[in-house]
Formats: sequence, structure tokens, C-alpha cells
Amino acid sequence: MADPSVENQVNGQAEEDLVNPWTVSSSSLKGVDYDKLIKKFGSAKIDDGLIERMEKLTGKPVHHFIKRGIFFSHREMHMILDLYEKKQPFYLYTGRGPSSGSMHLGHLVPFICTKWLQETFDVPLVIQLTDDEKFLWKDLTVEETIELSMKNAKDIIACGFDVNKTFIFSDYDYIGKCSEFYKNITRVQKLVTYNQVKGIFGFDDSTYIGKISFPAIQAAPSFSSSFPHIFGGNKKVPCLIPCAIDQDPYFRMTRDVAPRLQYLKPALLHSSFFPALQGAQSKMSSSDPTSSIFLTDTPKEIKNKINKYAYSGGGATVEEHKEKGGNLEVDVSYQYLRFFLDDDEKLEKLGNEYKSGELLTGYLKKELITILQELIADHQKRRSLVTDDDVKQFMTPRKLNYNY
Ligand code: TYM
Ligand code: TRP
Repeated sequence: MADPSVENQVNGQAEEDLVNPWTVSSSSLKGVDYDKLIKKFGSAKIDDGLIERMEKLTGKPVHHFIKRGIFFSHREMHMILDLYEKKQPFYLYTGRGPSSGSMHLGHLVPFICTKWLQETFDVPLVIQLTDDEKFLWKDLTVEETIELSMKNAKDIIACGFDVNKTFIFSDYDYIGKCSEFYKNITRVQKLVTYNQVKGIFGFDDSTYIGKISFPAIQAAPSFSSSFPHIFGGNKKVPCLIPCAIDQDPYFRMTRDVAPRLQYLKPALLHSSFFPALQGAQSKMSSSDPTSSIFLTDTPKEIKNKINKYAYSGGGATVEEHKEKGGNLEVDVSYQYLRFFLDDDEKLEKLGNEYKSGELLTGYLKKELITILQELIADHQKRRSLVTDDDVKQFMTPRKLNYNY
């Protein structure tokens, strides 16, 4: 049977999860089946062995995002650790598509992990703002997307990156300033056919040609020669990309073309999705404001949104909840606490008491509201201190504190 949805109906099975750069959806309240995704995408699980090796080499515990399996998948992380062991350099690359003036909590996930990696491994970091991508995909003018880039850059800087080790660039700005970057973009464009991107991204005959060629622009920062001011002429500095797994299609394409350019394939660390308030069937996304808690929300907005929308895994009545207990796997407040409550003991205690029915959802919500109000207020304070001049400094092509 050709149509998988028909097949699923016939077999009475849940439909396949859908994960690509534009859509994340699952028919299960527990969200995407990440083990299945690892198989489908051909990546590797972050297992205890890899975590132990990271801890042994760096002499410190891994970030709780890694320990708790929020970052759950990788490509060639062992190669990066081999290099680190031999004191050889690598660099970090991540990015953001500036589709809205305010980022949401889910966007913090890759940036928090990236900051931890930068501090732990002491390596250069490049951050791409794909204003061109958002112009091509969204109902925004070129000027609007550039403006959103600048606003988003402030949120990213407020995460605490070190200006001496970090280069933030917007595509519209940097492509015109650095011919080495543009040369790499066209090198990739010459190696990928329309048929291939159709297969990877689902483009069709009515897709604008701008979209069809865009993936090369997200691929090119994976090659150190795209940043001559940082790496001199060194074309062989390996790259590690932390991102949520929705971005993997871009980098599968990148890894496929790299050897044909005599470049190294980028390594990857993949995170799972921070769920929408309404439940893990979809990710938190700026395109649906009721699904999201934004970094600009007030304490009152945070409280109201969680109380009103956060999907509960609790029983229908207090009696039923006390009898049967709560379901941690689908309870959005508990899922959010896994991301943002870093005290392991407290998280375990709350989880056990909720599961046994002792604690009601309302209590989890209250804990979560306090944590998020504080986290977002702190972020807003740091962001208010970021000046236009700081943005300019981060975004100026320059040598970083490393020699190559
Ligand atoms: P964008 O702006 O959609 O997302 C930026 C980063 O945040 C991740 N993300 C999430 N992570 C967890 N939970 C969520 N609910 C959630 N929503 C978004 C994304 O996976 C991404 O890591 N095209 C990219 C920009 C880009 C890029 C890159 C990203 C360019 N080069 C290299 C990663 C690596 C975009 O529009 O991301
Ligand atoms: N393409 C991503 C989006 O629209 C944004 C992005 C650009 C990105 N470069 C990146 C994300 C590098 C992660 C890593 O969602």
C-alpha cells in the first residue's frame, strides 16, 4: 500500500511522527518517538559511554540537558572528543532564523547548551542569523527580517556568550562582506541537485527557487574556510553543531557534500523539542503564540499562560488523581521542569509525589511558574544591558582569541 496514512489506518497504528525544519508533530501525547527518529535519520544515541567519556575528559559533570537525555542524539561526537584529547581545535556553529522579535523558551535550549560547550571546551563559536531564510519563507520584508536579526542578536548575547570567542553574523550582512563564505555557498549549490533537495526537504515544482537554493547557505558555516578572519586560511578545523533535531536535514545534506569538497563533515549534537503548552504533540513555536512562553513575557503573562494552557497529566477529579496518580510523560509542567529545574533531587521528589497522586498538577504549575518567572526576569535584565554597540562588536568580522 503506497500511502502510509492509509496503511496506518488499516493497521490501527499511530501515524508516523513528522519532523522537519518547518513542522514537528506527533500523534502521541508523549511526543515524538526519539528512538525511532534516531533510526530513521541514521544518527547515534547519546549513551552512558559517551557521557562518561565527556565527563572524564573535561573533568566536570555534563550539563543536565545531556544527563537527562534532552540532548539525546549525535553524529561523530567521539571524533570531536578524540581531537580534544589530543589538544587539537574544533569550533561550534549554531543559528537562529529571526522570524519573530521575541524568542521563546524552546529557543533557549540549543543556546544554553552551546554556551556550556563553549565554556567547557574553550572553543570559538559562530552563530548564523538566517534573515534571508525568513524573508523567503515568511510574510516579511527584507528590511523587517534584518531588524528581527538585530533584536534576536540581543537575546542571544544576553545568554552570556564571550565576545572574544563568539562571532554572530546575519546572512544579508556577512555574504556581502566575505567572499570566502559566498564561494562555499556556491560550491555546495553545484553539488546538490533539485532531485536531492526535493527528497530531503519536500520541495516541489511550485517552490520558489530562493528556497530551493537556501540549504547551501545554512550548510556553508560548517566549513572553517567560510571564516578566514577567525581561522586564517585553515580549511580543516572541524565543526560541532548543537541544534534541535528539526535542523538535521540541512546537515545531512552538508555531510553528504563535504568529502567531495575535501572538507570535513560537521559533527552534531541533537536536542529534543521543548513541547508546546498544549502538549508534546507539537513543539513550542513562535508561529502559534498560545503555544509559547516568550522571553518578553511579564510574570503575570507567564502565570496565566501556564495556568490556562499547560496540558495536565493529572486525573479528571481530585479523587481520581489521588487514586491513580499523575502521568509524568504527558504533563507539560513536569516536562518543562525537566528542562529548567536543575536540582536533580528536587525534580525526582516532585516527580515521585506527582506520580503517586500525592501532589496535584496545580502544585507542579506553581513550582514551574516561580522558576520561569525568575529565569525570564533574569534574562530580561541581562538583555536590557545589551547595547547596540555590543551587537555591533559581536557582529564585526574579526579575529577571536584563538590562533590557527
Ligand atoms: P530557528 O530559529 O527555528 O531555531 C533556532 C534553534 O532553536 C531550535 N528550536 C527548538 N529547540 C527546542 N525546542 C523547541 N521548541 C525549539 N524550536 C526551535 C532549533 O532547532 C534551532 O536549533 N534555519 C535555522 C537557523 C540556522 C541554524 C543553523 C540552526 C542556521 N544555521 C545551524 C541550527 C544550526 C532556524 O530558523 O532556527
Ligand atoms: N534554519 C533554522 C530555522 O529556521 C535557523 C538556523 C540557522 C539554525 N542556522 C542554524 C539553527 C544553525 C540551528 C543551527 O529554524
